[in-house]
Amino acid sequence: MNYRHAYHAGNFADCVKHAILVWLLRALAHKPAPMFVLDTHAGVGRYRLDEGPAAHTMEWRNGIARLLDPPPGPLADYVGLVRDQGLYPGSPAIIRALMRADDRLACCELHPEDALALRRYFLRDRRVAVHHRDGYEALGALLPPQAGRGLVLIDPPYEATDEFERLLAGLRRGHARFRSGVFAAWYPIKHRAPVRAFHAAIRESVLRDVVAAELVLREPIEPARLNGCGMVVINPPYRFEQEVPALLAALLGQLGAHEPGEGCGLLRLADE
Ligand SMILES: C[S@@+](CC[C@H](N)C(=O)[O-])C[C@H]1O[C@@H](n2cnc3c(N)ncnc32)[C@H](O)[C@@H]1O
Repeated sequence: MNYRHAYHAGNFADCVKHAILVWLLRALAHKPAPMFVLDTHAGVGRYRLDEGPAAHTMEWRNGIARLLDPPPGPLADYVGLVRDQGLYPGSPAIIRALMRADDRLACCELHPEDALALRRYFLRDRRVAVHHRDGYEALGALLPPQAGRGLVLIDPPYEATDEFERLLAGLRRGHARFRSGVFAAWYPIKHRAPVRAFHAAIRESVLRDVVAAELVLREPIEPARLNGCGMVVINPPYRFEQEVPALLAALLGQLGAHEPGEGCGLLRLADE
């Protein structure tokens, strides 16, 4: 396990992922009934950008730093939350910040040091459980939740060459156990072929009501570069398809450099 998210915290991909995550959590919170959130690949929770790994790579300068002054309207909620947190919030900190009194969060992290750091961060927080375990395995073990409603975030590092296949298997397993759950899975766009194959596999699968939100900074023809990213969402909440395009357009407006091939939008992969 070589991947450490601290090197990439606050980069453009985090901005896309976390802005959509905030939108999804707000949408789920419209209903007063408690929700359960499972974060299968959680990281350490929050990140310093001014020192350590993030200060070394400075990826955040082409990410969150471009959204701060002032954030465009659709991003104000996400950016306001980042400002309130002080350190750059990873997915566990974002989820925790938006949880209500009866909501619950379970985080999985397989890297021993990161799992320990996350445990320390949530020490004595009775609403959050931290598991040092494989997040894909947890999709079988921790679902369905008692609450009966909620969100599953799957955000793997894509170190393994078969990560897309593992992700699809995980989505199928999780969805089979929690059919009403909202599932959101992040994926990199380095070049088109693996993404096309992933989308085709979703279309051919049993999964229904699936959309993909994508943002591409440049023609994805250099497989060694993160040229864009996407989020597959199963059971997107009401108004996802109406509101998320504006979120993506606002992100692209701030994060894009007008390179050939840049773009953003939603694709419907499977109907209800
Ligand atoms: C992209 S990072 C997660 C970032 C986090 N979701 C966020 O938004 O702040 C992926 C994390 O997954 C962890 N990881 C890798 N394989 C895993 C597995 N099979 N189960 C759980 N965690 C895993 C890595 O150590 C890394 O911290």
